[in-house]
Amino acid sequence: MTHPTMPTLPERPAWTALRAHFAELERTHLRDLFAREPDRGERLTAEAVGIYLDYSKNRITDETLRLLVQLAEQSGLRQHIEAMFTGEKINVTEDRAVLHVALRAPKGDRIKVDGVNVVPAVHEVLGRMGEFADRVRAGRWLGHTGKAIRNVVNIGIGGSDLGPVMAYEALRHYSARELTFRFVSNVDGTDFAEATRDLDPAETLFIVSSKTFTTLETMTNASTARDWVLAALKDKSAIARHFVAVSTNAEAVESFGIDVMNMFGFWDWVGGRYSMDSAIGLSTMIAIGPDAFGELLAGFRAMDEHFRTAPFEANLPVLLGLLTVWYTDFFGAQTQAVLPYDQYLKRFPAYLQQLTMESNGKHVTLSGTSVDYATGPVYWGEPGTNGQHSFYQLIHQGTELIPCDFIGFTHSLNPLSASSGANHHDLLTANVFAQTEALAFGKSAEQVAAEGTPDWLVPHRVFEGNRPSNTLLLERLTPHALGTLVALYEHSVFTQGTIWSVNSFDQWGVELGKVLAKKVAGELSAEQDPELEHDSSTNALIRRYRAAARA
Ligand code: F6P
Repeated sequence: MTHPTMPTLPERPAWTALRAHFAELERTHLRDLFAREPDRGERLTAEAVGIYLDYSKNRITDETLRLLVQLAEQSGLRQHIEAMFTGEKINVTEDRAVLHVALRAPKGDRIKVDGVNVVPAVHEVLGRMGEFADRVRAGRWLGHTGKAIRNVVNIGIGGSDLGPVMAYEALRHYSARELTFRFVSNVDGTDFAEATRDLDPAETLFIVSSKTFTTLETMTNASTARDWVLAALKDKSAIARHFVAVSTNAEAVESFGIDVMNMFGFWDWVGGRYSMDSAIGLSTMIAIGPDAFGELLAGFRAMDEHFRTAPFEANLPVLLGLLTVWYTDFFGAQTQAVLPYDQYLKRFPAYLQQLTMESNGKHVTLSGTSVDYATGPVYWGEPGTNGQHSFYQLIHQGTELIPCDFIGFTHSLNPLSASSGANHHDLLTANVFAQTEALAFGKSAEQVAAEGTPDWLVPHRVFEGNRPSNTLLLERLTPHALGTLVALYEHSVFTQGTIWSVNSFDQWGVELGKVLAKKVAGELSAEQDPELEHDSSTNALIRRYRAAARA
């Protein structure tokens, strides 16, 4: 937490020391670091809650780590972690506690917000979700015509979509295959049309997921869904069988027409991007069942405990967070790639984009002053090996330094071997290790020339190397493993935000566009040509659209 007395980041002694240290280390190659230390690849590793982290292929020494850990201490990370876990209102700009960790707290825990223990309410909702999920899964939740629900469509956006869709894709292996799951988020009508075109309304359940229940996209899609159901079933009372809501806003849920008996609540101390393990995960629970959802929560909880108690030197989220600060602020890295080598994790980078960038895309500190250092980098990625045949060229030979997190598993959920003898999973994993090796060590001009490459071609074929990466190795992609992975990044984001002294839990930056869109929407659909008072570009675009749309 930034106390008024805490020095600003550039004033913290470890920061100054890191500057001097960076100047010494900047030109050192990973080849030299590995040559100096034969056991580096075993030593610069950490393991906890089923995740083995090899961070040896980073441009760091023991001294770097020592200084980064000092920086975390001087930034009040230990106290800030405790403040979060004990329900202090660390989201100061919204005057809210930040308690996604309470969503996975065991039943007997006590975590108070405004003097009230929130854990019993969490378990009460989990219990209701479990009963409901069991009914749908068993075909005992009947639609209006008496047919069992077979299709579940989650309507939501941002944190009310990205977590559910990512978790569904990630845990598809464990899902009830007889049910169909769809996710509608975009206000573009195509999203709704394509998601529902082959579904029978009599067998379809909509989960309207919105923390506020006011979000334009979600409310528009929910209204369209209501029309779609009523057009087929022709009876308003059908809504109760075909719609449930997940929200903190009971009043708005009711006025939309959803019975609050069919509402699953959560609380203002759960940020949208931290909500996939709240009732927002209802579609996940229907897909994988309450027991597996419990394992997911146990994975989150295991990482929470590790984050709260492990020394910073061996603390996975702290290490990842500190490395991100190191590359962002000292090497000037503007982006960070996350590369899961598991097809089921195909939406994980998209999920992380909201988690990381909505959290730490800030340029003002908690005390309201502009930062004079870089904060949240752009996160991006694609599953391997596909990304290798697309953008890895730039990571290997481009002019940007892009730290990478490689995520791999020792066991596949679909262990296939081709008759040619090729084992899919060995090949997949070989690529993880090969990529991190190539990035770190590259290929020198001498090596390229020694292969008989003509002189003129040598520069094109040289790999400088010295490109940093982490390797995260897990056993297999289970619900528990997914929980640990998501919590790992949640707490890495927390670590970064604490060091940068920004509020990782508000998102004022999305407001202006929303407000302007409402105004423009009125102007696009007005009967008479409206008086336009925007800039000349926006005015011209509006006129052009109106003319074309009305032609
Ligand atoms: O994009 C801004 C945002 O407020 C996100 O933080 C949030 O996850 C998303 O919109 C959806 O909000 P809601 O769940 O209230 O519909």
